[in-house]
Amino acid sequence: MRNLLGIADLERGQIERLLDRAESLAALSERENKKLPTLSGRTIVNLFFENSTRTSSSFDLAAKRLSADTVSIKAASSSVEKGESLRDTVQTLSAYGPSAIVVRSPYVGAPGMITRWTDAAVINAGDGKHEHPTQALLDAYTLRRRLGKLDDLNIWIVGDVLHSRVARSNIFCLTKLGAKVTVCGPPTLIPRQIEELGCEVSYTLTGSEEADVLYVLRMQNERMSADDTFIPSIREYASRYQINGERLGRDQLLMHPGPVNRGVELSPDVVDAPQSLITEQVAAGVAVRMAVFYELLATRGPDDTDGQLKAAEAVAIAPEDSR
Ligand code: NCD
Repeated sequence: MRNLLGIADLERGQIERLLDRAESLAALSERENKKLPTLSGRTIVNLFFENSTRTSSSFDLAAKRLSADTVSIKAASSSVEKGESLRDTVQTLSAYGPSAIVVRSPYVGAPGMITRWTDAAVINAGDGKHEHPTQALLDAYTLRRRLGKLDDLNIWIVGDVLHSRVARSNIFCLTKLGAKVTVCGPPTLIPRQIEELGCEVSYTLTGSEEADVLYVLRMQNERMSADDTFIPSIREYASRYQINGERLGRDQLLMHPGPVNRGVELSPDVVDAPQSLITEQVAAGVAVRMAVFYELLATRGPDDTDGQLKAAEAVAIAPEDSR
């Protein structure tokens, strides 16, 4: 694997290999010294043209845990605000010889374009409403840790599916891993022909009580213009689609990529309910992003099957007592 642009490009075996590697790397976070020397001397650029808390911090931490040097650029504090083009920005940063560029952009396809302007591996940290592959990987990882496997799981993705890159990447990822996915929301917020991606569609929550997992999405207001009227009102939306204590079954799991708008898509109490995996999702972000760096930068290509072994070797190089 050279770049990670989307889950659509991955096969089940590649996804599982990343999740396996994340699991072996997660064992590290139990230790007091959490660092591996794997990417020592290499540089990773994090380029965020959209707001981010979880994704940018966990990419940064993941790179540091593998001993890479990181340069993190947020659009508002960069020369992009002064009119420098994406291409110029990427070429400027490529002068530092980075091994990877992690990019979040409001534009669909931006990470793919960047691959043409740099020798670095490019990792998509969210491009417009297209894909957010590492989010889907960390969601699958979280579910696999909790339930063992995803085959035949019944997962409902509820909310603003239309503007959600998380929904798209998760439809690809969860169905590739054997789950059955239903997307649910008002017709105005469900893209036409989304069934072609391999999911089912429901415009009401009826039937969601059968789901094993309710995966809830925020309204992506930043992708709507002031004149758009996707929903009559927040109150109306919440009355039909908000997941609250009554709509969340005792044996159902609750997921959300964050940030949560408490009181809109989720009632405030369910965020911290025992069924909620939201904190586990955030924690999983570091191990999964480490696994992505490891896969792209520390292994030798598609034939490499000894990743586990290398991870184990790396652990051996950085023993507990080296701190
Ligand atoms: C998601 C995103 O940015 O697409 N958040 C995230 O990465 N944790 C979802 C969202 O912003 O609603």
